[in-house]
Amino acid sequence: MLRFAILTVSDRSARGEREDLSGPALAEAVRARGWEVAHTAILPDDLPALRDTLARWADSDAYDVILTTGGTGFAPRDVTPEATRAVVERLAPGLSEAMRAASLQITPHAMLSRAVAGIRGQTLIVNLPGSPKAAVENLEVIASVLPHAIKLLRGDQSAEQEHRKA
Ligand code: MTE
Repeated sequence: MLRFAILTVSDRSARGEREDLSGPALAEAVRARGWEVAHTAILPDDLPALRDTLARWADSDAYDVILTTGGTGFAPRDVTPEATRAVVERLAPGLSEAMRAASLQITPHAMLSRAVAGIRGQTLIVNLPGSPKAAVENLEVIASVLPHAIKLLRGDQSAEQEHRKA
């Protein structure tokens, strides 16, 4: 059972001016795969707040995967990738490369995603775009490798056998 935390990054949703549809859409997609949504929150596009929250959540060891949605584009206040880079110890570029490659088949705007993914301790942090449709589309691209990724992060011996099978 993978444990997820979902962080919606949006000034307007944090102020209560726009309903957060992306967090709930991601939560539904996570639960549809039989995984647990252990925590959700909404924060504004504020670098220090995002950085501190991501670090605190990862260090709590309560979640295997932290998904962020929003703040990955070119708008002046889009700082989710910067906050993520500030807290991860190792980047996982393959995940963001795969998501961008798959998304380019859907829209050229995928080029405008600056999303990153990385590892802090035993927690994987993955940036997803802001719209509910885009967030779920991107999660679906990487979902099949997440159980194996988390086994590897935990140092689980059975991960080695899965390599041989793959
Ligand atoms: N990826 C997929 N699969 N589907 C989409 O509709 N939208 C893109 C992109 N990635 C999109 C997508 C758009 S319009 C932007 S601007 C970037 O993600 C960044 O989104 P964000 O600024 O909401 O984080």
